[in-house]
Amino acid sequence: MQFKIATLPGDGIGPEIVEQAVKAMKSVGEVFNHEFDFQYAEVGASAIDKVGEPYPEATHNLCMESDAVLFGAIGDPKYDNDPSAKVRPEQGLLKMRKLLGLYANIRPVVTFPSLNYKSPLKEEIVEGSDFVVIRELTGGIYFGEPRGRSEDGNTAFDTCVYKREEVERILELAYEYAAKRRKHLTVVDKANVLGTSRLWREVAQKMEKEHADIQTEYMFVDNAAMQLIQWPKKFDVMVTENMFGDILSDEASVITGSMGLLPSASVGVHTSVFEPIHGSYPQATGKNIANPIATILSAAMLLESLDLMKEAEAIRNAVNQVIEESYLTEDLNSDNAKSTTEVGDKIAELIRANSTVLEG
Ligand code: IPM
Ligand code: MN
Repeated sequence: MQFKIATLPGDGIGPEIVEQAVKAMKSVGEVFNHEFDFQYAEVGASAIDKVGEPYPEATHNLCMESDAVLFGAIGDPKYDNDPSAKVRPEQGLLKMRKLLGLYANIRPVVTFPSLNYKSPLKEEIVEGSDFVVIRELTGGIYFGEPRGRSEDGNTAFDTCVYKREEVERILELAYEYAAKRRKHLTVVDKANVLGTSRLWREVAQKMEKEHADIQTEYMFVDNAAMQLIQWPKKFDVMVTENMFGDILSDEASVITGSMGLLPSASVGVHTSVFEPIHGSYPQATGKNIANPIATILSAAMLLESLDLMKEAEAIRNAVNQVIEESYLTEDLNSDNAKSTTEVGDKIAELIRANSTVLEG
């Protein structure tokens, strides 16, 4: 089959890691007889530098007409300490989410037994953790109006807004995930304080009855932040609003000790976007040291979204092999570090080699 993949490397290490995911997908294409047509476009700071806009129209059009989007990372430190900057790379990301209608961000958090010692938590607490954080991505305080400053500049305000239908569709998706997993859903909110959270809870309590096979649990966000590091194993699917999800998903991503391994998907109305959860790691740009695995595993999620299950499995198997052999970048193997391209080449090669084994 033929698939068109909008390829958006972005900033910092983005281009280097995306290239490795492209290699893995090309291997998959060879083995399973698919043609992936990688069409490149600009996003983030590099797009601002080239065309003055972090999510140019040409990039959006390409995303709209593609089967999936493979995304690297965005962000450039030159914008971080300049509160007066008019355009920022992050605006590109928010615009992309809004225009593509990507209302759900899905971050599976899994541990890799040989890497549990890397966790900031005790090994016995983290081992075997396996959960998914589902974050609402196009609503809440990130997009609510009004937002801005008073005329004298001394008051700033943002508005948190949720509509019933926005809450329903994200909870529906969370229930679908829970149904395919261990049938446990944690709805995270701040219903003791916020009106939007009370709407979330009201909607969830109604939907809970329609999903009687799933155990629904409610948790305030502060308590969830605590329980996540105390008992990560108790979570299966966690669903929450945009800003709580932003914070909790970062917290969740480090507890396995291997942030460089975690992929994500953003799905919704139009084309889905697949990207590593880590950022653009500017200090490592061009050094060929960044871990490409999170992006390669994002490519596996991308393949699943196209219903290419065996193909996704082929990528995961190859990744598991390099992890077991400790053929890894410096973040995970400082004694005998491999480069970004070495790890990428190895994974691409293993995908081919494993298929010969299967055929033989
Ligand atoms: C993320 C990032 C973005 C967010 C920023 C870069 C706008 O932190 O994808 O989690 O806050 O959503
Ligand atoms: Mn974030």
